[in-house]
Amino acid sequence: MNIFRKLDSSQSVFKNESAFSPDFMPPEILHRENETRELALNLAPIMKGMRAASVVLHGPPGTGKTTLARHVLGQLREATGKAHPVYVNCAEQGYRYSILGALLASLDYAVSRRGRSADELLGYAVEMVKKSGKVPLVVLDDIDMLPANEKNGILYDLLRMRENFGIDCTVIVITNRDDFMASLERRIRSSLLQAAIRFQPYSPAQLRDILKERAKLGLLPGAWDEDALGMCAGFAARNGGDARLAINALWLAGKEADREGGAKVLPAHVEKVRGAAQDLLRAEQEQNLSKEEKLVLAEIRKAGRIQSGTLYSKLELNERSVRNYLARLEELGFVESVQINSKEGNTRIFSARK
Ligand SMILES: Nc1ncnc2c1ncn2[C@@H]1O[C@H](COP(=O)(O)OP(=O)(O)OP(=O)(O)O)[C@@H](O)[C@H]1O
Ligand SMILES: [Mg+2]
Repeated sequence: MNIFRKLDSSQSVFKNESAFSPDFMPPEILHRENETRELALNLAPIMKGMRAASVVLHGPPGTGKTTLARHVLGQLREATGKAHPVYVNCAEQGYRYSILGALLASLDYAVSRRGRSADELLGYAVEMVKKSGKVPLVVLDDIDMLPANEKNGILYDLLRMRENFGIDCTVIVITNRDDFMASLERRIRSSLLQAAIRFQPYSPAQLRDILKERAKLGLLPGAWDEDALGMCAGFAARNGGDARLAINALWLAGKEADREGGAKVLPAHVEKVRGAAQDLLRAEQEQNLSKEEKLVLAEIRKAGRIQSGTLYSKLELNERSVRNYLARLEELGFVESVQINSKEGNTRIFSARK
């Protein structure tokens, strides 16, 4: 038999593999009732055409921040025509300029951005928002991906729209950092009202529930063993309570079951893909580093081993910030360091980990 026909006709555990893809929107968000309600309550004034307080959603990777924000935005859109919600992924739009461009595009502004300054774009956006008569609601997801000046710049534009242009703009900021507020300039911190919703890591039982729902959506009935789900949940729970990790592990295990021609995802399949799931996590964490952290890591990788002093002098960044970046890189396991004490003084030597 033709190999491709044979592969094609062989059975698969999947009924809808796209249920495991990163941009899949689950029809139900489990175990986030309080967070959903809190965010909705916060946004409720928009229903009356009024400004809502800006809010920060913070918590570790894979705890449902993006999913929940998109879900609530969708519900708001459905409930009222008074809002103009815009979702911005800061990993894709890395500058104040391009975020303003995305805002303009969402307002159907049809003029080329070429040759225009960010301030001009802001001016057009303000004009268009006024014309629309709607309350703008801007979600800045993964805001940690913006360099500090771009981050402060865009937040200033949006949070000060009321004082500067008489427009009530609401901002939802999504971040991994619990110390996000401290990373902002003081004038911006004071405009960003202190409403914050913290997303906790999922427990093993919660991850199991999420996986069960996902299995029902993506796998054929009866094509998984409950213990296999439990193993994926446990693995993700031990690695930060990250639902993305749990879902990825189940997806990879499903692929492994297919490869072996099995009709069911079994614990043995999960065992086999554990390493690959870990690699995926690593790649994801590296992608999620800020531009500055990536710079520091690249410098250490280039050098192999490098003294802290040499590192500070090579980077055009402030020394205290570099120390913070190094601490985070070490915590995440990207670099390791040893302290050397000598008569000339103490120094730390950094090296990259595989
Ligand atoms: N409560 C939930 N119910 C169902 N699926 C969920 C839930 N929470 C997260 N997920 C799924 O887990 C994955 C990660 O969720 P999400 O992208 O929302 O995390 P995040 O907190 O935004 O992470 P990051 O900080 O890395 O951006 C997605 O595939 C999402 O569908
Ligand atoms: Mg996210």
